[in-house]
Amino acid sequence: MNNMDVNETICHCMGVTCGEIIEAIKAGGLKTVEEVGEATAAGTGCGGCQSVIQEILDELK
Ligand code: FES
Repeated sequence: MNNMDVNETICHCMGVTCGEIIEAIKAGGLKTVEEVGEATAAGTGCGGCQSVIQEILDELK
């Protein structure tokens, strides 16, 4: 996932974009999918996007 599009919706349940997730991770120093869920609600619906959230976390660390 090297070409992350900040405008891409990552979590379709909660309508959270890649950019929103990146900003939350940077602003909060988030380390886990659970923390991203608490900060943005991403991943707290069907859970289907959690692997992508993990990829974003891996990309940023
Ligand atoms: S797509 Fe993110 S929780 Fe369903």
